[in-house]
Amino acid sequence: MTTITLDGYADVREAFRLRDLKQALYDEGGVVMADCLLVLHGEDHRVRRRVENRLFRRGTFRHWEREFLHDVVRDTLAPFAADGRADLVELGYRTIMSLTALVAGIDRPTGSAAEADALYRYAKKFSEGATLVHTTRDPDVVRAEVRAALDEFDATFMRPSLERRRALLARHAAGELGEQDLPRDVLTGLLRHWDELGIDQEILLRECAFYLQAGSHSTADAFTHSADEFFAWVRRDPAAAEKALDDPALLQRCVHETLRLHPASPVAQRRALAPAVLRGGTEIPEGAFVVLDIAAANRDPRVFERPDEFDPLREVPAGVPRWGHAFGGGTHACIGTELAGGVPAADDAEQVLGTVTLMLSALLTAGARPDPHHPPRRDPNSSRDHFASYPVLFR
Ligand code: HEM
Repeated sequence: MTTITLDGYADVREAFRLRDLKQALYDEGGVVMADCLLVLHGEDHRVRRRVENRLFRRGTFRHWEREFLHDVVRDTLAPFAADGRADLVELGYRTIMSLTALVAGIDRPTGSAAEADALYRYAKKFSEGATLVHTTRDPDVVRAEVRAALDEFDATFMRPSLERRRALLARHAAGELGEQDLPRDVLTGLLRHWDELGIDQEILLRECAFYLQAGSHSTADAFTHSADEFFAWVRRDPAAAEKALDDPALLQRCVHETLRLHPASPVAQRRALAPAVLRGGTEIPEGAFVVLDIAAANRDPRVFERPDEFDPLREVPAGVPRWGHAFGGGTHACIGTELAGGVPAADDAEQVLGTVTLMLSALLTAGARPDPHHPPRRDPNSSRDHFASYPVLFR
């Protein structure tokens, strides 16, 4: 089978937008990814995305940021800061877990730390299942662990959340509850469009599991890398880095620059359903396996000068996002871009900082610095650029 790797910025951008390239990265991860939004194609994808997009309307996250995101970030950080130490991987997951659960429609009835930790364990396991193609462990063992985690998640979180929403929808249908009384989350959206979407309970379970891991893993990864890049910047150029502490827009640029250098998904993969020729001349035969090398394209010197340098002050050409292709593009472009990455001030009068910048800002304000006696560790079970542990101390 022909494999074509695209590593130029323009080629990857164009390929993301080709209609006849079908998602192919998650074929191995079917145990959690089968029939999820990210693997649907064509009309099936369009119909599901339209339903789920309603939750992610512009303005929703600006409202969230104004109303409660600062509090979630601050409250999650507080016990770690009081303790004087934290592991950024754990802190990142803990912070984002409650937000992705909210988006997915997974209730946390007690709001306890034990509940957040359980969701964190599930999300990590689902993420391992989704990225099975990159595992360095025995894939069958991982698959069995993911199935067991799905069953447990179903019994403990999914079914109660589902029953509560079904009851609310029944009362809504009976005219007892108004539109504003219904939760705005993926699970409710899918229940309301059940027939139109042609889904079943297993798909519902996997879609919620997918959201839980897609939102949390990438955000926690971006947070840890952002802190790592920021600490390195402080060592190289303390005066410049210091300025970002009082300048949220600059801190957001640090996050976007980090996403460019360390995209949580370093590659996207597609299968060609029909032949295509890219504007740059690359020919893609029907049936070819196409690798969109996001990590390489984000360092394309034709688009980003001094591409390997972390430079949050860099100029980028018009129309190029500072994060390059870190959020993908085309029909499968990340639905959580605004929640995680925010909206840069230049694009919008009212800036949205995004959760990663909020988390980084709170961390630095609390005086975090790398623990000199416990250096960060890379993830030994993945060939991806992930930290398994990143200990920090607080002032
Ligand atoms: C820094 C954080 C994030 C990064 C770097 C990221 C990255 C990505 C990328 C690269 C894709 C496209 C993959 C492909 O085309 O094969 C994607 C899709 C997606 N992301 Fe994110 N993501 C982030 C945060 C989130 C959050 C917070 C959520 C939800 C709460 C989310 C939900 C999704 C969904 C549902 C899709 C599938 C969209 C579709 O297929 O139509 N992501 N993300």
